[in-house]
Amino acid sequence: MIVSLKKVAKRYTRGKETVEVLHSLDLGIEQGDFVALMGPSGSGKTTLLNLIGGLDRPSEGEVVVAGEHIDRLSGAALARWRARNVGFVFQFYNLMPMLSAQGNVELPLLLTKLSAAQRRKNAQTALTVVGLADRARHKPSELSGGQQQRVAIARALVADPTLLVCDEPTGDLDRKTADEILGLLQTLNRDYGKTIVMVTHDPKAAEFAKRQLHMDKGTLVPGNMP
Ligand SMILES: Nc1ncnc2c1ncn2[C@@H]1O[C@H](COP(=O)(O)OP(=O)(O)OP(=O)(O)O)[C@@H](O)[C@H]1O
Ligand SMILES: [Mg+2]
Repeated sequence: MIVSLKKVAKRYTRGKETVEVLHSLDLGIEQGDFVALMGPSGSGKTTLLNLIGGLDRPSEGEVVVAGEHIDRLSGAALARWRARNVGFVFQFYNLMPMLSAQGNVELPLLLTKLSAAQRRKNAQTALTVVGLADRARHKPSELSGGQQQRVAIARALVADPTLLVCDEPTGDLDRKTADEILGLLQTLNRDYGKTIVMVTHDPKAAEFAKRQLHMDKGTLVPGNMP
C-alpha cells in the first residue's frame, strides 16, 4: 500500500465556525495504481489530495504515504519528505513566467545536493520524457497550454517521485490536448511505474485511470473499494 488513510477527518475553523470537510475517511491505494477521484464541487477532492501529498495535515486520523506517517512529521520534515516522494500537477500549471522550460523543471532540484550539471541533465531527461526536449529554452508564454502542462509534469517528475498527485490537470485544456496529457500520464503509470492520484470532473478523463473513486460531502461514496 503506497497510500493508507485511516479515519481521517479535516476541519477548518473560520472565526467561531468550524466546518468539517472530510469525515472519518478510509482509503488505500496500491503502488502502481492510477486512481481518478471524482465528485461534485466542494465535496473535498482537493482537500483529500493535499492530505495525500503532504501539503496539509489531517485534524484527526492517520495518513501513511510511501511508508511514512506523514501526519506525525514536523513542517520542515514534511517539506523534505514531499520533495523526495511527491510530484504535484495543477490545473493552471503554476510555472515561473521568467524562467525557461528547462529552468522551471530544474527548480525542485535546487533543494537537493545535485550539481548544476546533474540538475541540467535530469531536467533534460524529464523534458524528453514529456516530449518537449526541443522546447527547453522557451518561456511559458511561448508555449501552448498543453505544452505548459507538459513542462509542469516534467517538473513534477524530475526528482523521480513514486507518487504523482494531479488536481484537474486537464481542466483548462481542449479535448484533444487533454487526451494527449492523459495519455502521457498513462505512460508514466504503465512504463515508469508512477502511482497517480488524479482529481477530475471529466468522466472521459477518468476513463484513462485504472479505477475511479467518487466523493460526496466529505466521504468516499460506498461501493468504492476503500
Ligand atoms: N482553507 C480552507 N478554509 C476553510 N474552508 C476550506 C478551506 N479549503 C477548503 N475549504 C472548504 O472545504 C470544502 C471542500 O473543498 P475542496 O477544495 O476540497 O473541494 P473540491 O471537491 O476540490 O471542489 P472543486 O471541485 O470545486 O475543486 C469546501 O466547502 C471549501 O469551502
Ligand atoms: Mg478542487
